[in-house]
Amino acid sequence: MNATIRGVVAKAEEYGFEVAGIQRGWKGLIEPEAVEVSYDDVEELVGVGGTFILTSRTNPFKMEGGPEKVLKSMKKLGLDCLVAIGGNDTLGVAHKLSKMGVKVVGVPKTMDNDLSSTDYTFGFDSAVNVAMECIDRVKTTGMSHERVIVVEVMGRDAGWVAAYAGIACGAHAVLLPEKPYDIAQVCKTLKSRWDSGKRFSLVVVAEGAKPKGTGARSTRGKALDAFGNPILGGVGQTIAQEIEKRTGLETREVVLGHVVRGGNPSAFDRVLATRFGAKAAEMVKQGKFGMMVALRGNEVVPVEMGDALAQKLVDDGLAELANSFSGAR
Ligand code: F6P
Repeated sequence: MNATIRGVVAKAEEYGFEVAGIQRGWKGLIEPEAVEVSYDDVEELVGVGGTFILTSRTNPFKMEGGPEKVLKSMKKLGLDCLVAIGGNDTLGVAHKLSKMGVKVVGVPKTMDNDLSSTDYTFGFDSAVNVAMECIDRVKTTGMSHERVIVVEVMGRDAGWVAAYAGIACGAHAVLLPEKPYDIAQVCKTLKSRWDSGKRFSLVVVAEGAKPKGTGARSTRGKALDAFGNPILGGVGQTIAQEIEKRTGLETREVVLGHVVRGGNPSAFDRVLATRFGAKAAEMVKQGKFGMMVALRGNEVVPVEMGDALAQKLVDDGLAELANSFSGAR
């Protein structure tokens, strides 16, 4: 996010605009809180993960008079338009505000990579690279101890991180939210690997993966965030326990969680975020509001924000490829 803000500010100053950084996302427009941002403030932030203006999960449309407060705050802060950086939730709010007449440009940011209309969202490449590094490390133990290792990664209802990390690390099974898994089948694969002399197996599971039949995802209690999303987690442990119980193979699980969402972004993400930020400022100049910046091939282009909100899920081809390397005979 810092790299995007830097891209926006650099171009905005070139165009003669002033930029304010809204603190803590939509929260900073409920109780108006903003800081003036100049290029000098962001110059060194291209490689620093996160956002120096902070963030929060705040949904103005779930609050009494929330949208009206946003309009009032914009007036109070003297804002002409907004650049909203985020995933489905943040851009869902931006889209609704745009329908109410707010001038807003969207920038797709989510490690889940699940926004439509763009080939990639930034955050995804960094997350996959960190997941890959972590999985390569846990493989050392798995291979030396002849164990099954189950790695759980975030991604909510989309299995992009799991699919990419799984393929990149040679996983023998990859369980995705898009394809309910059959635990009996997974165990059969792992057992047959063991029986044919392959004593290490790697299973990568997306936090939103669910078993065939019941369709229930593993969640941490019943709590929902401000956008109605449950807090996912626990499927890795469930699967690891089930594998050990059914196959007798020694199994360990590792939950990567927020580890892969942090640290410094990859080169790809730094460049993508910078390009997105610069394009967003350009779209402000051109008055292209209600639109989102998107990567199409190697071009950064404006797309309708509403279209981008449809969730982009892992396609059948990639899901199948990710599960083509079981090595079971
Ligand atoms: O949507 C991004 C994401 O990182 C998901 O992959 C994950 O389920 C969720 O956010 C975690 O949210 P929080 O940081 O609020 O626990």
